[in-house]
Amino acid sequence: MKKEGCIRLVAASLFFTGLFAFTLGTGLSAQYAGWTIPEGGKDEKSPIASPPAVSAKGKALFGTNCQKCHGPAGQGDGPDSNGAAADLTDEFRIELNPEGVLHHKVWNGHPPEMPAFKSTLTKEEVWTLVEYLKALRQP
Ligand code: HEC
Repeated sequence: MKKEGCIRLVAASLFFTGLFAFTLGTGLSAQYAGWTIPEGGKDEKSPIASPPAVSAKGKALFGTNCQKCHGPAGQGDGPDSNGAAADLTDEFRIELNPEGVLHHKVWNGHPPEMPAFKSTLTKEEVWTLVEYLKALRQP
């Protein structure tokens, strides 16, 4: 009898640990529903050292890959947007999308609306775009 009680206690604590981890997990994925933001991705920092120097490159990358949906100033008004592409300059996105999140959103996309760029761009190009997006949304 005593042993059974002990097993039950262990099982119960395992269950609650699992539940806790699950709640934490869904908390993060609810905020970024449908996007792939790996653990710790939110806190990743851009390795691009000198933002002003990359802005021309970022603008060119944006023009080739993103503008058709997100529009020339990132406001979601490109010809291929169908009204769905996000306005990347909204003020609330500054807090929602720190640079690590921007990186993973562009890298992994949000199929089917937002394409993933991990097979067409390098990590460095995506970080360059992240610097450009940060400049676009300066208030
Ligand atoms: C085919 C059209 C299309 C292209 C091309 C495209 N996007 Fe998007 N993008 C979207 C759509 C649609 C959404 C909204 C998706 C959603 O929220 O489900 C989106 C969302 C985003 C978001 C997330 C906004 C947020 O706050 O959640 C970022 C960041 C982004 N795009 C950046 C880019 C960048 C950078 C490029 C170019 C490398 C790009 N997009 C190319 C259509 C596109």
